[in-house]
Amino acid sequence: MRVLGIETSCDETGVAVYDSQQGLLAHSLYSQVELHSEYGGVVPELASRDHVRKLLPLIDEVMAAAGTQSQDIDGIAYTSGPGLIGALMVGACAGRSLAYAWGCKALGVHHMEGHLLAPMLEANPPAFPFVALLVSGGHTQLVRVDGIGRYRMLGESLDDAAGEAFDKAAKMLDLDYPGGPQIAKLAEQGEPGRFRFPRPMTDRPGLDFSFSGLKTFTLNTVAEHKLESGLPDDQCCADIAYAFEDAVVATLVIKCRRALEQEGLKTLVIAGGVSANKRLRAELESKLAKIDAGVYYARHEFCTDNGAMIAYAGCQRLLAGQEQELALKVQPRWDL
Ligand code: KG4
Ligand code: ZN
Repeated sequence: MRVLGIETSCDETGVAVYDSQQGLLAHSLYSQVELHSEYGGVVPELASRDHVRKLLPLIDEVMAAAGTQSQDIDGIAYTSGPGLIGALMVGACAGRSLAYAWGCKALGVHHMEGHLLAPMLEANPPAFPFVALLVSGGHTQLVRVDGIGRYRMLGESLDDAAGEAFDKAAKMLDLDYPGGPQIAKLAEQGEPGRFRFPRPMTDRPGLDFSFSGLKTFTLNTVAEHKLESGLPDDQCCADIAYAFEDAVVATLVIKCRRALEQEGLKTLVIAGGVSANKRLRAELESKLAKIDAGVYYARHEFCTDNGAMIAYAGCQRLLAGQEQELALKVQPRWDL
């Protein structure tokens, strides 16, 4: 089965062609990061308009790169939620209409299921069952995964998502959006041990998260050390970035280990934008090795939003016989 995947839930236009026999044939991404950077976050209306401009040319490019004609496509998978409603509508409308014109199947895919399955595109994919840590700009969730569509929520953030916390902390340090990679880069210059930030909700049982207190702690630390410019000096900013990243990573590691032990599993999958974080990967690898557990993640470009994960997830669902009626449905909020 050959599937065209379309991702437009936020600020990346992602397109890919996945073949169940031959694997990923081609993929491409157009990022709107520059468009939104002057606003310090994603402007929904601008995102939708840019998807409208970029999507069809990108589909054309990816189909050509995959050496695929429309008649070779068996199905089209598009992200139908969760995400920005206008942005979702662009991908859903284009995907559904192309499928109608090409006479193939179409299916809306859950964005987080796409992230969750992205490590399956790698050479050494994880085997079911496993625990997945989904860490993106909108979600922080621990999920038990027994197979495609067999997901059980173990814990989630009660307030901010991990990526959102990175983005907000970055703003406090006057760094560009998206903040995760910027904090990670600045943290490399930070001095370990100068500050110690709290590890929220790790001293009590359970697998839920809360990052809003850490955000306030960061704000207070910045305020305490700020100079006339309104910011602490460069070294202090780096030390704060280090302590912030350290606290988020330590918190995620503790909960992942707890989830694996609770479920009696030895495989952890990390997915979503924050899974690109090098310190998170390194800390998980070293801490989980102690309990003989392995960590799986997607290549860097498939940690953040992309079309390949949607093509893959859609292909698995279409192979299982799922498809949808012609009427479009997108869901800005949607549980996994
Ligand atoms: O999965 P994603 O591309 O979009 C959503 O579905 O939200 O995740 C984006 C999030 C942003 O909050 C971004 O700051 C964060 O992932 N992120 C990172 C890193 N790269 C991206 N956070 C920490 N470290 C990184 N290296
Ligand atoms: Zn995402």
